[in-house]
Amino acid sequence: MAGARKKLSVIGAGNVGATCAVWAAKRELADVVLLDIVDGLPQGKGLDLYEASPVEYFDAKITGTTDYADTADSDVVIITSGLARKPGMSRDDLLAVNAKIVAEVAGNVAGHCPQAVLIVVSNPLDAMVAVASEVSGFAHNRVLGQAGVLDSARFRAFVAEAIGCSVKDVSALLLGGHGDDMVPLPRYASAGGVPITQLLSAETIDAIVERTRKGGGEIVGLLKTGSAYYAPAAAAVQMAEAVLRDQKRILPSAVFCDAEYGVGGYFVGVPAILGAAGCERVIEVELTAEERSAFDRSVQHVRELVAKLASIR
Ligand code: LAC
Repeated sequence: MAGARKKLSVIGAGNVGATCAVWAAKRELADVVLLDIVDGLPQGKGLDLYEASPVEYFDAKITGTTDYADTADSDVVIITSGLARKPGMSRDDLLAVNAKIVAEVAGNVAGHCPQAVLIVVSNPLDAMVAVASEVSGFAHNRVLGQAGVLDSARFRAFVAEAIGCSVKDVSALLLGGHGDDMVPLPRYASAGGVPITQLLSAETIDAIVERTRKGGGEIVGLLKTGSAYYAPAAAAVQMAEAVLRDQKRILPSAVFCDAEYGVGGYFVGVPAILGAAGCERVIEVELTAEERSAFDRSVQHVRELVAKLASIR
């Protein structure tokens, strides 16, 4: 008999996908289905994770599979499939290869999980969300991209380190695409309610903004064989939790913006209220002329990526 637990499927059992399964299981968010095209990989990682449950003390069923039928009727599906960057590559270099992969995944997911909320993690993120949206045909509010939670987590971690305070007390906001032209907004960042502009010098903040923008590349440069996965997975799972538990969290997410911020029909990073319906509301914040032009540049980059997609697919 089906239980009352929610169901979360994670597509791709690589580093990001497997780590999503770990964080989600540990939080008892849902039963987790881990799917990959490489037979044995999701089954092995799934069983291994399940065997950790008596020690780590979580009740969640973990199923590893290559068959989309096992994902049937998931409440949330996290899509991590695709290649990761190698040193010297930009996220955009992955466009053609990952567009094909994400399109295939989104088609399969839409067929088996018609009610799900999708959370896309694959890169280049803003374009891959557009692919998942188009192929799935899902209402725009049920297609989300993970980028802002990760990028703002990096920013928050660096800010906390610079202030010498707990990361728990730092909140931050970030707009735009998941590229090096993302737009951190120091004016809207605070530590224990105090604007960070009162706690850190302009030079320190500029350096943190710069390090955040290049945060993905910093990890790729260190790992050499792939990209970050602990923080990206934690970020995707926080979004999944907001949806599965209908938390109405305000999280920077890649969501569909039309009139919002004058974007004109693209998925870009903005603060959004995430709950059971997916993106329940886009929050528009006031921007200075300088912030506005940085945002416009970032959105223009997203538009160009999506235009390139049309010529590939
Ligand atoms: C990053 C990659 C995963 O920012 O986009 O680390």
